[in-house]
Amino acid sequence: MQVQIETSPLENLGADALAVVVFESEEAQAAHAAEAPAVASSATPDPEIAAQGGWLAEARSSGEVSGKLYEIAVLHRPQGLAAKRLVVIGGGNREKFSPVEARRVAGTLVRSLKGKGVRTIALLIDSEPLAEFVTAAVEGAVLGGWDSNKYKTDLKKTDKRVDSFIVAVPGADTNLLNGSVERGRVIAESQNLTRDLVNEPANKLTPTALEQAARQMASEAGLEYQSLDKQAMTDLGMGALLGVAQGSDNPPHLIVIKYRPSLLAGPAGAAGENHLALVGKGVTFDTGGISIKPSDGMEKMKYDMAGAAAVVGAMRAIAQLRPPIPVTGYIPTVENMVNGNAQRPGDIVTAMSGKTIEVLNTDAEGRLILADAITYAIRNGATHIVDAATLTGAIAIALGHYNVGAFTNNQEFLNRLLAASREAGEKIWQLPMDDEYKEYLKSAFADLPNIGGRYGGSITAAWFLREFADPTPWVHLDIASTAWLDDSKSWMSKGPTGVAVRTFVQLAADWDRPA
Ligand code: BES
Ligand code: MN
Ligand code: ZN
Repeated sequence: MQVQIETSPLENLGADALAVVVFESEEAQAAHAAEAPAVASSATPDPEIAAQGGWLAEARSSGEVSGKLYEIAVLHRPQGLAAKRLVVIGGGNREKFSPVEARRVAGTLVRSLKGKGVRTIALLIDSEPLAEFVTAAVEGAVLGGWDSNKYKTDLKKTDKRVDSFIVAVPGADTNLLNGSVERGRVIAESQNLTRDLVNEPANKLTPTALEQAARQMASEAGLEYQSLDKQAMTDLGMGALLGVAQGSDNPPHLIVIKYRPSLLAGPAGAAGENHLALVGKGVTFDTGGISIKPSDGMEKMKYDMAGAAAVVGAMRAIAQLRPPIPVTGYIPTVENMVNGNAQRPGDIVTAMSGKTIEVLNTDAEGRLILADAITYAIRNGATHIVDAATLTGAIAIALGHYNVGAFTNNQEFLNRLLAASREAGEKIWQLPMDDEYKEYLKSAFADLPNIGGRYGGSITAAWFLREFADPTPWVHLDIASTAWLDDSKSWMSKGPTGVAVRTFVQLAADWDRPA
């Protein structure tokens, strides 16, 4: 999808659809719907749009247009406008209309108009701060253009595509806003790359295929790339990761993708001595291993590499947006399977850090591969670590599907990440990591078991990781309940969400910003 700014007067905009946001207005609803002023004030002061006042007023009074969030009404051949259709979309409560809603408005427009002969959509943006709203709208449009139908052969996909999304900002300075458009495009296209990877079934996306995809992204984006094979990991003593991998005929990899800010940027202020590591769980399929999962719903476990895919997507965006801090992506990727060599409950493995782990449940495999990746990141100079992982089913019980769960050993670092996530429009909620929870992690035979008891499953999983991260500042994001959407939203297709990409990118971009 092409995206661009258009600053010329609205009436000249020759799009298939020109969209404006209308808000819920109590007066307008209560008052006589025929009164044009109420209509004008509920949409935009633009005279060409106001000229549709008669239609809008009628649509308001009939209840077709209420301003309700994401509600759409279409007027064909609007008078005085070059656009073929005038689309009004609900923005809800005007005071609460933020870039989050703007992103979803744009996504809803693309999703509801594609396949209806609409190839170019323009959206009028007149909310402040303009730059943030423009970026969010572009992101929403590009994300809304994504679909999970890659393997459907009977779809005439080309007929269902929006080719061009125009952000209409009459009278604004194009030069100032081009950067905002570009930023939105880069981030959303990267998030869509993440979704493409997660969408792949596990027979296509093996650990080796993921390694190849990451390698290709790195080469296209101009990033340094390296990957460790089984032998290299054996030499480094990554017994935790290799124990999981040994049950599959598909070999494991540890992918390393490096971004360095250009020297021209100078010895970047606060970033000077810092090195951010993004670590992503890359289990391309999770059967549970010998502690096998029930067959019902097991097909969804192809998305157990969503953390890995988020790191690939984020690194792509980071390569283009060039934040001030060096960032390295670390992706341990394995398949958790059950061949004759699979690890057994009760097996004791030695992690790269030297700690021994009693594998009480082979289905708690994510933390095992992350433990070695985190150790490797620290040995290679990481000063700050964020991991993203579809780690526990329990996070869905704790938080439902609307917040990522966050855990940390360093409140200040998490506060920075939370600030970034708010800017990026991703919801994250912190869970506790009091020392008491560590009591749940006791093994009779090794330093650590890989599972806690029945309670606080997401917290014990985080504590397990922390044993390998301490004392390096670290944040763990459990995205098990947010990386996959079971039912589509008006602004987003069902399937992979690409969650964590935007927060990762924003965290790196804002690194030099004072807390
Ligand atoms: N990949 C799963 C977690 C998961 C569950 C992700 C549901 C998405 C949806 C993880 O490897 C796992 O199996 N965790 C176990 C841990 C348990 C054995 C302590 C779980 O959550 O049941
Ligand atoms: Mn598992
Ligand atoms: Zn898993």
